[in-house]
Amino acid sequence: MVDRPQVVLSCATTLDGALDDSSPTRLVISDAADLARVDAERAACDAILVGPGTVRADNPRLLVRDPRLRAERVARGLAASPLRVTFTRSGGLSARAHLFTTREEGVGAPLVFTSAPHAEGLARELGRGAQVVSVSGPLTLGAIAANLATRGVRRLMIEGGAATLAAALAEGVADELQWAVAPWRLGDPAAPSIVPALRHLDGRHLAATLRDVRPCGSVVVFRYRIARPEAAAE
Ligand SMILES: NC(=O)c1ccc[n+]([C@@H]2O[C@H](COP(=O)([O-])OP(=O)(O)OC[C@H]3O[C@@H](n4cnc5c(N)ncnc54)[C@H](OP(=O)(O)O)[C@@H]3O)[C@@H](O)[C@H]2O)c1
Repeated sequence: MVDRPQVVLSCATTLDGALDDSSPTRLVISDAADLARVDAERAACDAILVGPGTVRADNPRLLVRDPRLRAERVARGLAASPLRVTFTRSGGLSARAHLFTTREEGVGAPLVFTSAPHAEGLARELGRGAQVVSVSGPLTLGAIAANLATRGVRRLMIEGGAATLAAALAEGVADELQWAVAPWRLGDPAAPSIVPALRHLDGRHLAATLRDVRPCGSVVVFRYRIARPEAAAE
């Protein structure tokens, strides 16, 4: 029995695996229908994690947007949006990021996991915008997930970016992949890509089993169960 939450990896890519383009502005891959689907998935989780590169590049708020989904969570005695989580090994996160400046009633400050040498400086930088959690051992997604389990997180959604998805699969910290694929090719060799992460789904380290595939607006959403090969065969 693994002492961590159920972990759902979520991403949207182009046909050639791009998660974004290499320009400073964010590439729009999903459409409104898929964003609504992701919003509902967020609402069904206890926590949402993005990597620090995504905080820097996309500047997300990581909140549930649909008022109806938010009201349903509140009616269940939950905060309107799940716990928001990120991490940094370098300590390089700005207090001006939306993640740290956006506050909502009932939604606590995001958790920022970092290694012990950076914890004090980061806590000073982020102030009341975040709760900095100092990790004494290696700053892995496994360590973060285990810590979140102690905080009552049973379902964790990891929304990228490229390095974070790859790290989750490399560590085997993933139970499901929800992959929305848009019907066009980007052709930008410098774009952040899902492809390096997929090398871990080689059937030896991890096996992916297709559970569902369906269109959603202009994208197709693939849902895979992710497990160690021996568990996947059960
Ligand atoms: N289409 C989608 O579904 C989707 C979703 C999310 C993001 N994105 C895109 O993904 C891009 C960002 O991807 P990214 O790979 O640069 O960022 P990321 O995965 O969000 O974060 C990468 C950062 O993680 C830290 N890190 C250090 N060592 C690492 C390791 N071994 N494994 C993992 N992370 C490590 C580093 O930051 P520190 O130095 O601070 O530790 C590194 O810069 C953006 O362009 C964004 O638009 C797309």
